[in-house]
Amino acid sequence: MRDKDTPSVSALLVSYMRGLAPYLQPPADQIMVDPQRLDERLLAGTALGSVLRLLARLPTRIARFFASAGQMGVHLALRTRAIDDIVTEFTVSGGKQVVILGAGLDVRSVRLAPLLSKNAVRVYEVDSPGSQRSKLALMRSSGLKSDALYIAHDFEAEPMAELPEKLARAGLDRSGRSLVLLEGVVPYLTRAATDATIETARKLGGTSSLLVVNHVSPEQCELFAAPWSPWRLHNWHFWALFMAYIRWRAGERIISPSRGGVAWGDQTGAYLAQHGWTLRSNRGEPEEAARIGLPLRFVGSSVHSYIAVAVLSK
Ligand SMILES: C[S@@+](CC[C@H](N)C(=O)[O-])C[C@H]1O[C@@H](n2cnc3c(N)ncnc32)[C@H](O)[C@@H]1O
Repeated sequence: MRDKDTPSVSALLVSYMRGLAPYLQPPADQIMVDPQRLDERLLAGTALGSVLRLLARLPTRIARFFASAGQMGVHLALRTRAIDDIVTEFTVSGGKQVVILGAGLDVRSVRLAPLLSKNAVRVYEVDSPGSQRSKLALMRSSGLKSDALYIAHDFEAEPMAELPEKLARAGLDRSGRSLVLLEGVVPYLTRAATDATIETARKLGGTSSLLVVNHVSPEQCELFAAPWSPWRLHNWHFWALFMAYIRWRAGERIISPSRGGVAWGDQTGAYLAQHGWTLRSNRGEPEEAARIGLPLRFVGSSVHSYIAVAVLSK
């Protein structure tokens, strides 16, 4: 596992794609509204931050064309909005602790700060040590402030059994109701690390805690894991280039089901049930679009991403 003091390349690209949200073709520019442009500010000192600044200066039509290419911007905006809405619902219904596993450059704790602080919600961010250090450096240099608590832990290289105690030392009430987020993380984990992570998530809160897992279908995972395979060239699109780039640049690999990753998709409920979680919903992008009134033509056929929400009963 990497432990350089640089954000993971996938986390950088994801933050960049969230930064595309205001430049999407209307009405997709309303999926995720962030007047503070936090991702753009976080990335200010990076090359991707310069691209976002450039978009602001381009003629609107060109900026929109660029931001909509490959449907990555819409995908990230939809997934961010879906999870923001879950965090909001959890908070409004009295939830007090949110644990973000594999947080990367997630700036949710800043974006939702007024809601979180009004309801005295504590956010705990967990990520691999090098990635987390570099995020904190980016936060400092861009002047972004968050009340989140930062806990470094590598899900592959360190025993997952130690994570609940680390979080408890940081203040997490392990018998309280928690919302645990795993956004854009599981495709990068081996089966063993995924099992241990989902199992550990159970130990981060009491009855009625929620787990949110963002995952892709097994077919999509196979494509991401081997984007260059000739028999998959008919699927050639921006996603394949994206995965090939992060694999080449950072060695971060998608672990497909055929290579020891978990097969999500139809098996999501059964898999989570094995670890004590009851699936409440498993929504794909078309359902997410319908939920917020986004015309279906904005949802690409090339991305098959789901948001699974599961409940813990002890
Ligand atoms: C695609 S990024 C997603 C980041 C963030 N959740 C988001 O959606 O913006 C994947 C994240 O998973 C984290 N990750 C991957 N493997 C990990 C591991 N073995 N231990 C801890 N974190 C890991 C990376 O550091 C990175 O921040």
